[in-house]
Amino acid sequence: MSPVVHLNGQFLPLDQAFVPVLDRGFIFGDGVYEVIPVYSRHVFRLEEHLRRLQHSLDGIRLANPHTDEEWGQLIRELVARNAGDDQYVYFHITRGVAKRDHAFPQNTAPTVFMMSSPLITSPQELVETGISAVSANDNRWDRCDIKSIALLPNVLLRQVAVDHGAAETVLFRDGILTEGSASNIFAVENGVILAPPKDNHMLPGITYDLVLELAAAHGIPLEIGKYHESRIRAANELWLTSSTKEVLPIIRLDAQPVGDGKPGAVFWKMHALYQDYKTRVMRSPA
Ligand code: PDD
Repeated sequence: MSPVVHLNGQFLPLDQAFVPVLDRGFIFGDGVYEVIPVYSRHVFRLEEHLRRLQHSLDGIRLANPHTDEEWGQLIRELVARNAGDDQYVYFHITRGVAKRDHAFPQNTAPTVFMMSSPLITSPQELVETGISAVSANDNRWDRCDIKSIALLPNVLLRQVAVDHGAAETVLFRDGILTEGSASNIFAVENGVILAPPKDNHMLPGITYDLVLELAAAHGIPLEIGKYHESRIRAANELWLTSSTKEVLPIIRLDAQPVGDGKPGAVFWKMHALYQDYKTRVMRSPA
């Protein structure tokens, strides 16, 4: 059965949803997006995702077509119309359909597209084994805080990992850790979590924020700073975080073991806290 999607005010089967070729999302990648996990049909940190969406829309000077209440209703309806208790909602807003011209069109309605897919988080074996990553120079623009649909740099950077049989590409800009091609990156050094700052060189991850909160609430030392590649390569642990991957240990970087080449003790602590948070807050909310 075709999943149900939402396009410009209508719910319809995915195979009946079409966008005109002159949509600026197609022509210019002129739009922004969000990805929100849904656990047991509860939407994860909706307010935070909508706040980040507003930041992205402001960053590209596009008016928000919906209030937060409207977004909440649309997302909940989309989830209700699709199968599976755990889903992830992808939605994007483009600057709409207009004659091709770089400058913003006048009086053009934005295009709103939303879909939901089954959320399949990392299997336990993968969590226990950990993943391999490679590194690359972060050659993206300097507004990585905007969740832009123009993802060609991220696509090319992710493919570098795939070409090397790895799962993610860890990015360094002028030798300083920024993030992954589609994730945020943390390191652990002598029991202290090291995190890059939420500046214009990384996407402010919602999962990143939860890791910071859990570390603070449970007394795990955490330091935010600009970390040189040499320090990251010498770290005891490396992790990636994202809405769909949650927290995953990176056990090899550029074919070299990270720490002792196994998921570390701080990772296991954070993994347990994250799973506990999901069970308590998402699966059985008050
Ligand atoms: N990507 N950095 C980048 C470049 C990302 O694309 C993502 C997530 C993150 C993590 O953000 P969050 O924790 O809010 O998911 C960081 C999503 C999942 C995607 O593009 O599919």
